[in-house]
Amino acid sequence: MVTPGGVIVMIREWDATVYDALPLPHLRWGRRTLDRLALTGDETVLEAGCGTGRDTAELLDRLPRGRVIAVDGSARMLDRLRSKLADRLDRADVVQADLTRPLPITEPADAAFSVATFHWIHDHDVLFANIARALRPGAPFVADCGGRGNVARVRAAVEKVTGETSETWHFADPEETRRRLERAGFTDVRAALVPDPARLEPGGQFETYLATVVLGAHLDRLPPSEHRAFVRAVAAELPEPVVDYVRLEFSARRAGG
Ligand SMILES: C[S@@+](CC[C@H](N)C(=O)[O-])C[C@H]1O[C@@H](n2cnc3c(N)ncnc32)[C@H](O)[C@@H]1O
Repeated sequence: MVTPGGVIVMIREWDATVYDALPLPHLRWGRRTLDRLALTGDETVLEAGCGTGRDTAELLDRLPRGRVIAVDGSARMLDRLRSKLADRLDRADVVQADLTRPLPITEPADAAFSVATFHWIHDHDVLFANIARALRPGAPFVADCGGRGNVARVRAAVEKVTGETSETWHFADPEETRRRLERAGFTDVRAALVPDPARLEPGGQFETYLATVVLGAHLDRLPPSEHRAFVRAVAAELPEPVVDYVRLEFSARRAGG
């Protein structure tokens, strides 16, 4: 959807149960991103695009005296997070919000963290400005998302099946990301592309993975009766059951402090 102000908004629902049952490479992306965030254990960390809460739980483990502000746009992802973390919600604020809008957070957080979310958002200037406003000066910000060249083969397969250019994702490159972060008020920016393909089992698992994790926004535009055939057609265009991920990993610090 494009708002009257011209901002592309990609809030959509996810099948949180199927998502959690898949062998997600997001697990290792989450661990890698967490390992780039130095914590003393009493901070409040903003998690942007927390999904079903896998990394929220890991953050809470690393914050015995701290809190997590877990933000996501999907009600179903957040419902699943709430049931998985039911006994830990005293230290987690679960917020349904659109990261392209100013975040409804009253106290600035001490750090920001995000995995596999920002490529779903087209306007990174707005996104980074919103995150900067939610952080105290000096706060670290670490993130992973799809970067330039991400899922290029899958994208080519989609374009072959639809006959149209796919504008669903925004796969930024490190240099433009560094410029955007600096414009939004961040400093000490490091950003790099990391190729990290994921191999699935052929057939049902690969098709379920594509439908749930990669092609959801494409499927939203089709009637349900056409979903299966579309996913099969895309899978058939790929030489092997591999999603050719290229991660954009970056870290920065809110200026000041
Ligand atoms: C692939 S999932 C990743 C979730 C989790 N970080 C993980 O690694 O499993 C992407 C998440 O980003 C959220 N998301 C995408 N665009 C968003 C937006 N504009 N505002 C808030 N959340 C958004 C989705 O709802 C979804 O939960």
